Amino acid sequence: MTPQTPSTDEPEVRKGLAGVVADVTAISKVDPETNSLLYRGYPVQDLADTQSFEAVAWLLWRGELPTPEELSVLRTTERAHRALPDDVRAAIDLLPDDAHPMDEVRTAVSVVGAREVAGLSALESADGPEQTLARSVRLFAVLPAVVAYGQRRRHGLAPVPPRDDLDYAANFLWMTFGSDPDPVVVDAFNRSMILYAEHSFNASTFTARIITSTLADVHSAVVGAIAALKGPLHGGANEAVMDTLAEIGSAEKVGPWLDEALAAKRKIMGFGHRVYYRGDSRVPTMKAALDSLVAHYDRPELAALYEELESQFVDRKGIYPNLDYPSGPAYHLMGFDTPTFTPLFVAARVTGWTAHVAEQQAANSLIRPLSAYVGPARREVPRDESSS
Ligand code: COA
Repeated sequence: MTPQTPSTDEPEVRKGLAGVVADVTAISKVDPETNSLLYRGYPVQDLADTQSFEAVAWLLWRGELPTPEELSVLRTTERAHRALPDDVRAAIDLLPDDAHPMDEVRTAVSVVGAREVAGLSALESADGPEQTLARSVRLFAVLPAVVAYGQRRRHGLAPVPPRDDLDYAANFLWMTFGSDPDPVVVDAFNRSMILYAEHSFNASTFTARIITSTLADVHSAVVGAIAALKGPLHGGANEAVMDTLAEIGSAEKVGPWLDEALAAKRKIMGFGHRVYYRGDSRVPTMKAALDSLVAHYDRPELAALYEELESQFVDRKGIYPNLDYPSGPAYHLMGFDTPTFTPLFVAARVTGWTAHVAEQQAANSLIRPLSAYVGPARREVPRDESSS
């Protein structure tokens, strides 16, 4: 290990690690200059147009798109682990009825993880890349049941068992709503899952890598990633977008609402991005999916409100929408309740997180940055003679 030499110079502090390159990755490339996002070299919009979410999950985990045989093996394993386990359901039922669904999902992953490593010491449960990938497929498979059950529980409905004749996206919708999903909805949902699957060293993925770097197991890393994703500056933005659209109400009210919001220095959710400054490369694909849902459900007034807020905000601030802006109303139209939006993001991003966990394990180094101390200089602890 290289000894850290204390420096007498003022260290440069990069607040929020902005602009810091923390490691290499072969999983995805975000290029703000060309406004593009590649998964293992493939443009994400092309994957969303042509692939199933299962195939993209394989690509993220294994580095190549699956052969038909590999996809069939993945689908068989995914189907075998789709049902909501009794202990997971029991743990969710112990939570308050109005618990946030992200807390349900985080708890559920803890329970699944505890079962995976039961009887093992912390050192023994530290998984290598291959074991991580096997555990990741099972976690990927069970999350739709967890998310679907959360929404149904909030509405006082019993869980719907999975169906073996449906692929991942259609089965997810089936378990949530208990009715045969329309192909337009399945297609939009599949696209959203692919677009949300991976985005390099964002806050939740980096959290997962930090936890992995201590040799903790993949479920521990995912629990931490879910906690990071809950915040409205990260994953929580898609539900905040829907709250904003509901608060504004209609396209005519956008102007006065925005005057007040900007005067109060409010952040408008679903706009802005730490990496992209000319717009988010995923937005056009998700916006096209939203347009197909607006037509399918005949909801032009929602589209008008969406367009008006975007156009006025971009005109006034020059800050562009991110993926959460179109995905919030898209999930709303599909029938998901607003608090379920971020758990949907979890179900998608678990693929990227776990690919990063395996990558971190394959070339691990404990992640431990330095800090610049700005507290009081060394001083003596006051001695209270009477207490000694
Ligand atoms: N609404 C209003 N103003 C915004 C804004 C938004 N959504 N996003 C950025 N800004 C403004 C800030 O107020 C700040 O203005 P100032 O310099 O006058 O103070 C400036 O743009 C820089 O913003 P900052 O938050 O420091 O940039 P960042 O790179 O840290 O922010 C986000 C990135 C994503 C945290 C930020 O854009 C944001 O909070 N967006 C809303 C939440 C969201 O949609 N998150 C999902 C991200 S995928």
